[in-house]
Amino acid sequence: MSHFTGKTALITGGGSGIGRATALAFARKGASVVVAGRTESSLAETVKLIEEAGGRAAGVAADVTRSDDVAALVNATTTRFGALDIAVNNAGAAFTGMLADLDEDAWQRSLAVNLTGVWLSMKHEIAYMREHGGGVIVNMASTIGAHRSVPGMGAYATAKAGVSAMTRTAARECVRDGIRVNAISPGPIDTPASMRPGETTEQRDERIAATLPLGRVGTLEEVAAAITWLASPDSGFAVGHDLVLDGGSTA
Ligand SMILES: NC(=O)c1ccc[n+]([C@@H]2O[C@H](COP(=O)([O-])OP(=O)(O)OC[C@H]3O[C@@H](n4cnc5c(N)ncnc54)[C@H](OP(=O)(O)O)[C@@H]3O)[C@@H](O)[C@H]2O)c1
Repeated sequence: MSHFTGKTALITGGGSGIGRATALAFARKGASVVVAGRTESSLAETVKLIEEAGGRAAGVAADVTRSDDVAALVNATTTRFGALDIAVNNAGAAFTGMLADLDEDAWQRSLAVNLTGVWLSMKHEIAYMREHGGGVIVNMASTIGAHRSVPGMGAYATAKAGVSAMTRTAARECVRDGIRVNAISPGPIDTPASMRPGETTEQRDERIAATLPLGRVGTLEEVAAAITWLASPDSGFAVGHDLVLDGGSTA
């Protein structure tokens, strides 16, 4: 038995990278898992990996920038597994470009997926959790946001700083409803998202070795472990916390 036996976890962006690793981690610990995203084939692959390992999972196609999609996602989750106990609002995407040169479409798309997508997810998750005895929410922020700035990443940083701020507010608004809300802010993690445009994995690793205090990128398993901790009763006194996991880049 683990903390997550009999619980249901919803992970947006669960078809790849950090979201997939997190879905696998929750499933290994006994949770039924719903993964959401826009690409059905990647969701199906995550579900297959979980089921092959003996877990329970379902994929639901949803675009987190659309309120009706997110409402349907929460509904599909509770219909399939009977509950929504844990939500990891992880879907996101990096947009690059200097602020003064960025086109308006890129700015709007960055805010839509990285900030509005997390807000819409929380909005529908909290509505369900309030009526069904509470739950736990972990929002995906980033060190590039509330914790540090990188030229060329302003649209992303603005949205992610908003996630950190929104998490603290939501945490205070919901804690007496039995809903614990926290955020995680990773530094560079071993997915294509930590690579600069045109950079190879080797070039990324060389850059990180030279610049990051720890000298390496974070692993998917390290992020998944931090998220499952934030979602477990072991972190029960953490409310509105923004867990920085960055190999020392903001130390
Ligand atoms: N890797 C890092 O270094 C790093 C560091 C700090 C924070 N993060 C954050 O961690 C999260 C996961 O990133 P990752 O590195 O694992 O990259 P990833 O593999 O690209 O994961 C992003 C996921 O979000 C989904 N997604 C994107 N737009 C969506 C939308 N509108 N609706 C629903 N799902 C959407 C994608 O699936 P579809 O395209 O199929 O929809 C994909 O599965 C992101 O929020 C990212 O900003 C990453």
